[in-house]
This record gives sequence, C-alpha cells and structure tokens, in this order.
Amino acid sequence: MKAVAVKPGTPNSVHIREVPEPKLSDIPNGRGVKVKVLKVGVDATDREINEALYGNAPDGDDYLVIGHECFGVVEEVGEHVKHVEPGDYVTCTVRRPGGSIYDNIGRSDITSEEVYYERGINLLHGFMTECFVDDAEFIVKMPLKLKHLHVLAEPMSCAAKAVQQAYDAQRRLQVWEPKVAFVMGAGQIGLLATLILRLRGLEVYTMARSPGPHLKQEIVDSLGAKFISTSETTPEELTEQLGKRPDIIVECTGSSKMAFKSMELIGHNGVVVWTSITGSDNTVEIPADAINLHWVLGNKLLVGSVNANFRHFELGIQDLALGELSYPGVLEKILTNPVDGLDNYQEMMRLLVEEKDALKVFINVADE
Ligand SMILES: NC(=O)c1ccc[n+]([C@@H]2O[C@H](COP(=O)([O-])OP(=O)(O)OC[C@H]3O[C@@H](n4cnc5c(N)ncnc54)[C@H](OP(=O)(O)O)[C@@H]3O)[C@@H](O)[C@H]2O)c1
Repeated sequence: MKAVAVKPGTPNSVHIREVPEPKLSDIPNGRGVKVKVLKVGVDATDREINEALYGNAPDGDDYLVIGHECFGVVEEVGEHVKHVEPGDYVTCTVRRPGGSIYDNIGRSDITSEEVYYERGINLLHGFMTECFVDDAEFIVKMPLKLKHLHVLAEPMSCAAKAVQQAYDAQRRLQVWEPKVAFVMGAGQIGLLATLILRLRGLEVYTMARSPGPHLKQEIVDSLGAKFISTSETTPEELTEQLGKRPDIIVECTGSSKMAFKSMELIGHNGVVVWTSITGSDNTVEIPADAINLHWVLGNKLLVGSVNANFRHFELGIQDLALGELSYPGVLEKILTNPVDGLDNYQEMMRLLVEEKDALKVFINVADE
C-alpha cells in the first residue's frame, strides 16, 4: 500500500513509497483494530520532521511514515475489541507507552522517560498511509455527527489536555473561579483553546500578530471571544484597558518571548500553561526580579503541557460536540486547506511551508 514517508536525518526527503499492509493479527490477544485512513492532518511537527530537525525511523527501517493526526473508518476488529466496530469513525492517539510508572498507568503523555515513541514522529510509523492497525487501547471513537471535523480531534486533544492540566493544578487553591482568559496565539491550538475556555464560561481574549479582519479574527469573534492584534494593542495595553489581569493564560504562539511575556501578565493566583514547542536557540531579556517577586507574592503557577492520552481525546471530542451545538458551523472553518490523495504529498508540504494563512492543511486519503 502507499505511504508518505521521510528519510530521518535527510532534509526535504518527503516521498511516497510502497509499504507492507498491516494485518489485524499484528496485534496480539484479539485486541487489534484495522482502520481505513480517510484523512490525515499536518502541522509544524511534520514540517520540522521533513526539515530533519527531529524524528527517527523505527528499528530496522531507514524511513519514517509521517502523519500523527488521523481520521478513519474501522474495517476490522479483533475478538476482544468492544468499544468500536466496523463502520465506526475513529481517530488514534499518538504516543505509545515506554517503561515509566506513568506509562504503566495509561499516562504515557507524561512519561518520565527521555525517549518518546510517537506514531509518525519518533520510532513508530505514522498514519499517512492507506490503512493502519493498532491496539484498541489507542483507538478513539468519533461521533458520527462530528465526522466533518475529522482531523481536528488530535490538536483538540492537546488543547483539552492543556486546559485540563491548568484546572487540575489549580485545585491547590481550594477555590478557583477564573473569569478572564488570555490565549496567546490564534493558530489551530489557540483557536481550539479559545473554544474550550468559552465553553467554560470565561471572558476570552485571543491574540495574534496580524491585524484583522481575517479568518482567525472571524473564528475568534464567532466563538464569542475577542480578537486582539498585538501589533495594534500590546498585551500590557490590553490589561490596562481591562483594568484586570487574566486568571489563566494559554500560551500557544510558538514564541518563547510570548511565553515569558505571559509570566508578566498573569494575575494573582493565576495559572499560565505553556504549549509552544520552540525548537531554535533564541534568547530574550526578561525582567527577572519583577517576575520572581510578583510570582511569589501572587502565588502564581506555570504548567507545561504536551501530547494527550485517550482521556484527553475523549474530553476534546466532547468539547468539539458542545462547540458544534453552541457555535454551529464555526469549527470547520479551521479546516482551511484540503489536498486530494496521497500522491499529492508535495502540494501538502508546499501548503504547510508556504501558505501563511493556512490554519489546517490535510490530505483526503480516501473516500469511504
Ligand atoms: N504542547 C502540545 O501538545 C502541542 C501540540 C501541538 C502544537 N504545539 C505547539 O503549539 C504552538 C502553536 O501551534 P499552532 O499550530 O497553533 O501554531 P500556528 O498555526 O503557527 O499559530 C501561531 C499563532 O501565534 C501567533 N504568534 C506567533 N508569534 C507571536 C508573537 N510574537 N506575538 C503574538 N502572536 C504570535 C501567530 O500570529 P499570526 O496569526 O499573526 O501569525 C499565530 O496566530 C506551536 O509551537 C506548536 O509546535 C504544541
């Protein structure tokens, strides 16, 4: 069958190749699920894997099939699989357990091991193929009426985990009733975090650099949040205008400068969640004494969040469903750039690298 792969270590090596088709029996104990892939989304991680910035091939192979945001339909299940059946729409988690205690309790998303096993990212082949097989433990059912949101399930799981981690950590306060949220960044993660916080009833300000009107502003506004262009209003000016500081900041710009800026903005007892993956080696000057002082005096908290487990996928899917009911037709606007067929992988990569307005590039791998 066809698959889109890279040669790890070789920049711009993305190519299409024939790979062996997996079988249900590859997974022991009747727990296998075989999925026909319908759509696969791509993000900055895929771009960086193609730039050979990271990503390793599975043992014994010299290529890595890419793709970690998948949506498909179940074709076959093993005898012990009960939560999905042929014909169901599904997505799949990305990280597989290593050996730490967190991996053993189903929390590979917070593994304490240095080496990650992630489908389509590191040491395991991904989903940009015609079909895949995995253990039922990692297969997440998508409701029929969310099939039009397909590849958003994976980025949504990361946004859902980020917000949930903040709420979990804030139990330290015994009582926490957040009212105001800043979301730094209006890419896919920022927009999905905006939705989650709006569904929790917060007053949300979502920031990006480029002034509107544009699609990001339209989506933010349609979710009942307020779009702020930082080139028109700085975050400091915004806090001054509001006369209050945020209780929660979800930082997802990809800029470490904004990550540290968030630390200057958060209010007393507040929580900052960092999600940006900042691969380069930029340095920034920060007002370290002031940040330290205000963080101690204000009992503030910083949480880093990455990846997502089965439960976060479920949480994210629940919020996608509630989002569709609350703001009908808004979320599908994130799915901006479809590409038809695995053979068009070069167009997919071009859009990912060059199309600055693309919120989500994805491949239509097959019709049902
Ligand atoms: N932790 C996780 O589990 C996880 C999962 C997926 C992705 N990520 C990471 O999360 C980050 C966001 O991902 P994404 O796909 O949403 O990214 P994206 O599509 O590149 O969006 C980034 C957004 O941040 C804004 N931005 C960038 N620099 C800024 C600055 N200096 N000031 C204000 N706004 C700024 C951009 O503004 P413009 O719109 O004006 O360009 C854009 O709206 C990335 O670092 C990604 O690697 C983390």
